[in-house]
Amino acid sequence: MSDEEAEEEYLFKIVIIGDSAVGKSNLLSRYSRNEFNAHSKATIGVEFQTQSVEIHGKEVKAQIWDTAGQERFRAVTSAYYRGAFGALLVYDISRRATFDNVARWLDEINSHSDTTVARMLVGNKCDLEDSREVGLEEGKRLAESEGLFFIETSALDSTNVETAFEMVIREIY
Ligand code: GTP
Ligand code: MG
Repeated sequence: MSDEEAEEEYLFKIVIIGDSAVGKSNLLSRYSRNEFNAHSKATIGVEFQTQSVEIHGKEVKAQIWDTAGQERFRAVTSAYYRGAFGALLVYDISRRATFDNVARWLDEINSHSDTTVARMLVGNKCDLEDSREVGLEEGKRLAESEGLFFIETSALDSTNVETAFEMVIREIY
């Protein structure tokens, strides 16, 4: 096997989805560059970052795709999901509407990818405890009933960000 093939063997595509402004782009920038932007602009189209992770002593590369939550800025949906091994479905614990839309996002993943995709429900912005609108237990319950992993994160203070991505990557691997 050539070096190139050896590298490709461990390249996994992961997609991030969820409503606009739930913090998808900041979760990715926190994970890949340890950066947070308090004034980030809405994503237009698709962006991705490649991140190396060591698992069982092997280097695994995750190619993490981030797209617009806003319908009008989204790229062609089927291309976005094609070849994905894992998905992070993000809502904002301080905005109930983003949690109510999880069902819609699940329908979308389910119709564009097969059931072997490792799916994780992510309740982001857990630093905003004072304005929480979605309880931890509610998130857990929904995840359980849909067969998803579950975690609450904060891209702002870094809580569980690495864990969220690495749980999905480990599940794939
Ligand atoms: P689209 O690209 O439109 O789909 O939005 P997005 O989901 O990528 O959201 P983005 O990462 O741009 O974040 C939206 C806003 O929420 C920004 O003002 C961020 O600074 C803020 N934000 C993101 N994550 C957190 C978090 O964990 N805590 C808090 N308090 N704010 C956050
Ligand atoms: Mg974005």
